[in-house]
Amino acid sequence: GDCYAHKRVRSGGETFPSVPRFLSTQRQLYERSFPVYKQPVEVGFFSLDSERNFFNDSRQLRYYVEPGKSPNFSLRDGYHDRFIKRDEGVKEGLDHMLRWILENRTKLQSKNSASSCALGVDFVTWRGHLTKLLTTPYETQEGWLLAASKFGGTIYISEVETEAARVNRESRTERHKEMMYWGFKFEQYICADDMNGVPDQGGVVNTNEAFCTVVQTRLSDHKLLFSGEVDCRDKDPRIPAPACYIELKTSAEICTPKQRSNFHRYKLLKWWAQSFLPGVPQIIAGFRDQDGIVVAVETFHISNISQLIKNEYNCWKPTVCMNFCSDFLSFVKSVVKEDNPRLVHLFEWEPHRDVMFSVHRDTQYTFLPDWYVNSMES
Ligand code: A3P
Ligand code: MG
Ligand code: MG
Repeated sequence: GDCYAHKRVRSGGETFPSVPRFLSTQRQLYERSFPVYKQPVEVGFFSLDSERNFFNDSRQLRYYVEPGKSPNFSLRDGYHDRFIKRDEGVKEGLDHMLRWILENRTKLQSKNSASSCALGVDFVTWRGHLTKLLTTPYETQEGWLLAASKFGGTIYISEVETEAARVNRESRTERHKEMMYWGFKFEQYICADDMNGVPDQGGVVNTNEAFCTVVQTRLSDHKLLFSGEVDCRDKDPRIPAPACYIELKTSAEICTPKQRSNFHRYKLLKWWAQSFLPGVPQIIAGFRDQDGIVVAVETFHISNISQLIKNEYNCWKPTVCMNFCSDFLSFVKSVVKEDNPRLVHLFEWEPHRDVMFSVHRDTQYTFLPDWYVNSMES
């Protein structure tokens, strides 16, 4: 008979007709060769303005303006008097992406005409949700909830805020709130609205504004369509998207070997995952002191990050991240069989646990809006 007692299995609890009930997140199960990940292709973009209105264009795209090596930017400037913060209590789900799909569906359908399903992709989601999947085998602090619905042959994946995340969000300290602003202020110091413009360092920081790229790619046998916010692009108009895009980050200055090691082990994992997915090739990082003064600016090329971390003991591996994501998507495909926009399979994960799921029919978890479903069906 079968002996599973000492055998490590990725997913288990199989019952006829072989629908696994859980998925393991143990790293060693995903240490195999790097899966196929096709070069992401930009199929479109959209903008969200200062009031979070959707536009099917690139009006919010900004241009990178190189700062000096040690620019002395003060990230605290404007926090109290020139900051408009997006309301994080408003849950937008996939709505902006769905709006983009509706306005560009003929373009998409002609591109993927050989496919049987309406959009020609297996999954539609946000880049940020995929980033969380990539980092899951190494995450020890925060779990996640991902809702999935199949409609027109495509599985849509939308995040649900966990109770723990809501409690954290509602109990941030004043210091933490200010430090979250610092990342956006750094963007303002080095981004211009126009190709030949200069940064408006005295302007208002409004975190409702966003430019998002929409890319198509394939991970193993999973065709993916996802969107992610992009901070800015290179001024050189000859560089095509997404290679022209630049991710901006801030981080505490590194003063000790221990801090350098932590930066490599934890922060570079998240930075790598976020930019690798849409094919953004470089990150400009501002290192700041305790008072929010940027003391150094450094460039990280995504393709070099795996080399940078190789000397860290017991460090994260890109192949584990990608293989876990691929296996999770296979797991979702094996579970979500019924094509029904009102049916939600809720996948949940807590650190040190397996990924589990529950089934919800016509509940508050239903996330594909009627305006989308009705318009796609007509
Ligand atoms: P830093 O990246 O400099 O930390 P992004 O880097 O993804 O473009 O995001 C811009 C800023 O938004 C971040 O600046 C950070 O302050 C804030 N931010 C990003 N993701 C966040 C999250 N999950 N929770 C809270 N704040 C976040
Ligand atoms: Mg950003
Ligand atoms: Mg950024």
